[in-house]
Amino acid sequence: MKKRYALVGCGGRGLGMFAMPIVRKYPAVAELVGICDTNTGRMAYLNRILGCQVPAFTDFAAMLRQTRPDTVIIATPDALHHEFIVRTLEAGCDAVSEKPMTIDAEKCRAIFAAEKRTGRRVTVTFNVRFVPYIAKLREVLASGAIGKIISVDLNYQLDRQHGADYFRRWHRRKEISGGLLVHKSTHHFDMVNWLIADDPLVVYAMGSLQFYGPKRPERSGRCVGCQYAKTCEFYFDIRQPMAVGEMLDNAELYANVEHLDGYYRDQCVFADEINIEDTMNLTVRYAGGAQMSYSLNAHCINEGWTLGVNGTAGRLEAENWYSGPRAKNPTREITIHRPSGTEVIAVPLDTTAHGGGDYRLHEMLFNGPKPDPLGQMASSRAGAMSCLIGAAGNESIRTGLPVWINDLLG
Ligand SMILES: NC(=O)c1ccc[n+]([C@@H]2O[C@H](COP(=O)([O-])OP(=O)(O)OC[C@H]3O[C@@H](n4cnc5c(N)ncnc54)[C@H](O)[C@@H]3O)[C@@H](O)[C@H]2O)c1
Repeated sequence: MKKRYALVGCGGRGLGMFAMPIVRKYPAVAELVGICDTNTGRMAYLNRILGCQVPAFTDFAAMLRQTRPDTVIIATPDALHHEFIVRTLEAGCDAVSEKPMTIDAEKCRAIFAAEKRTGRRVTVTFNVRFVPYIAKLREVLASGAIGKIISVDLNYQLDRQHGADYFRRWHRRKEISGGLLVHKSTHHFDMVNWLIADDPLVVYAMGSLQFYGPKRPERSGRCVGCQYAKTCEFYFDIRQPMAVGEMLDNAELYANVEHLDGYYRDQCVFADEINIEDTMNLTVRYAGGAQMSYSLNAHCINEGWTLGVNGTAGRLEAENWYSGPRAKNPTREITIHRPSGTEVIAVPLDTTAHGGGDYRLHEMLFNGPKPDPLGQMASSRAGAMSCLIGAAGNESIRTGLPVWINDLLG
């Protein structure tokens, strides 16, 4: 029997990551029975591009009532995830939530309580775990290649295309995205939590807005109609068709339907209202004793990350670049330094969406259950542990003090 899915949040991710594969790739095992969004134009585009007529709702409760899904997929802005997760579980369905599961501890608690109350299940889609290079890192570390893990250094750089994009729309408001320490770093924190198989205990962070925000006089409300369009390096023409995700069209998805909800996808990255950081440093102590230092900068020239893991038997080094000259390398390397010498493991680069993470996750999600020897499918617990490092980081930035995860959870 086909599994019945409903989708709430029909933006770039909802359409490209979930609706599209269900309809096009998994029609034998999955059916998209309902879609919900506040913007009817975006839902009409979804049906148009997929050549289907999935019933569309602006009322979530009506969608649940009328379509009777088994599982609801949640791909709305982050601060709304918990609300839709709880309502989904209470309707007797399972929930699949995009990352981050939610943005703060109170909302994590609401999700845990709803799971307990209803016996239904939340899955968080951490596509990073499915990237072959990351999966290999997990395999190598789990094999004990560098012994017991003592410390981790993760340095993450967002470039001036992708990084700037978080300052153009809802992500730039901390109350909606949790800031980049939640919205973006949840991927990185989950990766480290999963790689070292440990839980965070205490977090200390610093953060500031140094590059975007009200930093230059040449700015306006949005790129469309901006008098600095010809000279601003951040000018972004939302009306031009542009591929996002799997061949989606930014103009259709956002510009042509913006009159319906006032969601402007091209707001100025130098706006006053930006209240998230673009420069963040954080330290974490784990329950097993490991320490992590982490940095995220959203204004770099190239995009990618470097990772160092120190263990009792050696050191592991890894790096992955998404833009700039190093991005073109056909393989990604894992280097292990031990007293006896150095070993290099090369992993072929997968150039499909999100480094091959997306379609591998689809297989697990829609064509499963399948054996999961690396534990790549993530529960609400993993969703909370990664989001809470960011939430604790936000609290630490606010107070200047270290924050214990258990104190946040109560
Ligand atoms: N795993 C990844 O690599 C990845 C990549 C991109 C986005 N995401 C996540 O996917 C989610 C969606 O991101 P996106 O880029 O598609 O954003 P988006 O802005 O393109 O889409 C969000 C959609 O939610 C709709 N929406 C807003 N409020 C709503 C409400 N109250 N009820 C119903 N619908 C509502 C909007 O109209 C919009 O269509 C976010 O949680 C984001 O963190 C994950």
